[in-house]
Amino acid sequence: MSLMASILRRRPALLLHLRLLSSSSTTTHLETASQQQQQRIEKILVANRGEIACRIMRTAKRLGIRTVAVYSDADRDSLHVKSADEAVHIGPPPARLSYLNASSIVEAAIRAGAQAVHPGYGFLSESSEFAQLVEDKGLTFVGPPASAIRDMGDKSASKRIMGAAGVPLVPGYHGSEQDVEHMRLEADKIGYPVLIKPTHGGGGKGMRIVQSPNDFVDSFLGAQREAAASFGINTILLEKYITQPRHIEVQIFGDKFGNVLHLYERDCSVQRRHQKIIEEAPAPCITDDFRTHLGQAAVSAAKAVGYHNAGTVEFIVDTATGHFYFMEMNTRLQVEHPVTEMIVGQDLVEWQIRVANGEPLPLSQVQVPLSGHAFEARIYAENVPKGFLPATGVLHHYHPVPPSSTVRVETGVEQGDVVSMHYDPMIAKLVVWGESRAAALVKLKDCLSKFQVAGVPTNINFLQKLANNEAFEEGDVETHFIEHHKDDLFGDPNNKVIYEEAYSAARFGAKLVAACLCDKEHSALKESQSGGPSLHPIWYTHPPFRVNHHAQSTMELEWENEYDSSSSKNLMLSITYHPDGNYFIQIGENSDHALAVKASNLGNNNFRVEAGGITMDVSLAVYTKDQIKHIHIWHGPHHHHFRQKLGLELSDEDETQHKTSFESTSHPPGTVVAPMAGLVVKVLVEDGAKVEVGQPVLVLEAMKMEHVVKATSGGFVEGLKVSAGQQVSDGSVLFRVKAQK
Ligand SMILES: *[C@@H]1O[C@H](CO)[C@@H](O)[C@H](O)[C@H]1NC(C)=O
Repeated sequence: MSLMASILRRRPALLLHLRLLSSSSTTTHLETASQQQQQRIEKILVANRGEIACRIMRTAKRLGIRTVAVYSDADRDSLHVKSADEAVHIGPPPARLSYLNASSIVEAAIRAGAQAVHPGYGFLSESSEFAQLVEDKGLTFVGPPASAIRDMGDKSASKRIMGAAGVPLVPGYHGSEQDVEHMRLEADKIGYPVLIKPTHGGGGKGMRIVQSPNDFVDSFLGAQREAAASFGINTILLEKYITQPRHIEVQIFGDKFGNVLHLYERDCSVQRRHQKIIEEAPAPCITDDFRTHLGQAAVSAAKAVGYHNAGTVEFIVDTATGHFYFMEMNTRLQVEHPVTEMIVGQDLVEWQIRVANGEPLPLSQVQVPLSGHAFEARIYAENVPKGFLPATGVLHHYHPVPPSSTVRVETGVEQGDVVSMHYDPMIAKLVVWGESRAAALVKLKDCLSKFQVAGVPTNINFLQKLANNEAFEEGDVETHFIEHHKDDLFGDPNNKVIYEEAYSAARFGAKLVAACLCDKEHSALKESQSGGPSLHPIWYTHPPFRVNHHAQSTMELEWENEYDSSSSKNLMLSITYHPDGNYFIQIGENSDHALAVKASNLGNNNFRVEAGGITMDVSLAVYTKDQIKHIHIWHGPHHHHFRQKLGLELSDEDETQHKTSFESTSHPPGTVVAPMAGLVVKVLVEDGAKVEVGQPVLVLEAMKMEHVVKATSGGFVEGLKVSAGQQVSDGSVLFRVKAQK
C-alpha cells in the first residue's frame, strides 16, 4: 500500500477523531480559549521567500486561507510571489533591509489585513523580538511562544533548563573553579577523550582534544594562554569528546493546552560545512527502545519550556556508547520537516496553523503512525570541488523530477530564475518515500539522476555519489561522514581510473549530443521552445547544426571535467549521414569505433536515441552564457556538460543579430556586464589597456565566492569606471572591449 493510499484510508477516522477532540476541548478549555481571544486565521502573511514560502502557502490554500507574500526587489517575479494571493514589497535585496526588517513585515501584515504571520525557517523565525512584536500588534505568530524562543536561543540557558528537566547533557564541567589540578580531576570524572574549550570566542580557537590524562596539563595551559590572547578571557570548560557522533533530532509538537508529542526522529548526520545535505527519517540502525527514549527526552525538553507549535530537539549520539545528549532546540519548522511528514502521513504546516488557531493537537502520541522511510536531498547551486562554495547564476534549464505520491520536490524557483548572491543558494529539496530504507534509497538515486539543472553548478552529482556510497547504503552515518569518505565522494583528478571512466562516458555522451542535434527534421530545438522560456532564441530560429547529407560534417565540443576544469578535453566529432537514417558519429580520426545513432524528438528537450543497437531516452539542454554555447546531456545516471566550439553554421551577420537580440538592444558588441551582483574586489587592468580575449579584467565577489570577469574579445578596454570596494548590480555594464582604439 502506498503512503498516500494509507493516508487516504485513514482519513475518515482521523477526521472523526479531530471532531471529537475539538468538541471535547472546547468545553474543557473554554476559559483558555476565550482568554486568548483567538481570532481564527483566514489570511496569513508568510514572512519568508523561496521554497518554504511556497510550501506554507500550498497548505494555507488547501485550508482556504488567503496568503500574503512579502518580497524584496530581487524577488519581484519569484515563484513565492506568484504563489500568493497578494504580495507586499518590503525593501531592497539585502535581507537585512527586507526579510529581516521585522517592523516593515508586521506593518505589511496589518496593511494586508492578515490575522497571522508564519515565519518559515531562517530569517526572523527564531527572533523572540519578532514573535513578540507580532503578538503585541494583535496578530497570531504561527510558532512557539516568544519566551521559549528566547530561552532556547541562549545556549547556556537552554542547557541549564534541560539539565534541570532531566534531559541528558554531554558530560562536562562548566564551573568557575579553573585551577589546573581541579580541572584535571574533573576531566578524569568525565572520561577521556576530553574536549577543552574556552567559554568565550569561537572559530575553534583554543580548542583542544585530549586523548589521555598524561596530556591534560599541557593542553589545558596552552588553551588558557590561547584563549587569553584571543579573547582576553581565559576561562575554560570541559566536555566529553565524542569521537563518532551522529546528529539525530526529534520533531516535537505542542498545543496551547500543554499537550506535547513527538513525531519520531530524523538523522541529519551527513553534513558539509556544518550544514545538512541529506536527511532521513526514521534514523537508520537504531532500536525501537532507543527511539522511544529519544522521543521521551524530546517531549520532556519541550515541556520544560512551555512549548507549543513545531519544534526540533537536536541530540548528539555517541555511536561508541549508544548514549545520547541534548544539543539544542530549534524553535521553528525545520528545512527537513518533509521527511517526517512522509513517514507519519501528516502535514506539519497544517498542524502549525491549527495549533496557532488554538486547536488541540490532532493526534495523541499512540496515534502517530510510522510508515516506511523517507530521504531528503538538498540540491544547492554550489561548486563542490571548490569546497562547496555557493554559486550564483541563471537557471537556464530546470527540469526537476515530476512529483508523485512518493516523490516531493520543494522548490522556490523556475527555469529562467536567477540564483542570486543575496539568499541561500538552495535550489530544491528532493524528498522521496519508500516502504523501507532500501526502497527509498533506490528511489532517491533514480530521482537524482533525473533531476536536471543547467546554468549553475550544482551538488547533484555529489549527492548521487553519496547515495551510492556503500557505507551510506548500510546506514553507517556519522557527522564526519563526508570527510571519512572523501576519496570515494570527491573524484580525485589524479585518479586515472575515475578520470578515464568519466571521460569515456563523456565521449559517448558527446555522440548522443551530435545525434540529437542532427535530428533530421531539425525540429529538435524548435520543439524545445515550448519546454521553457529561457532557452536561447538562436536555437529556435536557426537549424543549430546542419549536416551535409553527402559529405562528412564535423562538430567540436569541449567536455568540462567536473572534478578538474583544467583537464577539460576537446572532442572532434565527425558525422556521416547514412541513407538508412542513421548517422555515423566518431570521435577523432580513428581512435574510436564509429557509433551508429538515430535520434527522434520526444519534445520538451527529450530524445529517444538508438545508439549501437540500444534504445535510450536522453535529455538535452542548450543555452548561451557569456557568449559561449553550453550543451548539457543527461543519459542514464550521467550528466555531461560541453561547450560547443565548432559546428554552428551561422554567418557572422546572424551571430551579431542574435547577440544583439539576446543581450540587450542597448549594448554594443564587446560590452561586458556584471554576471551577478557583487563587490568589486580588484581591477586588474586600466581603462584603455590592450587585452586579449579571455584576459581577466576585474574580480567580483559574491557570497564569499570570487568571480573573475574576463574580456570576451580582444582589443582595448573602454569605459572601465568601477574600482575596488564598489558594489555593482546584476547586468550593469562594467566595460566594453573595442577592436580599435
Ligand atoms: C524597516 O522598515 C521600516 C518601516 O517600513 C523602515 O522605516 C526602516 O527604515 C526599515 N529598516 C531598515 C533597516 O531597512
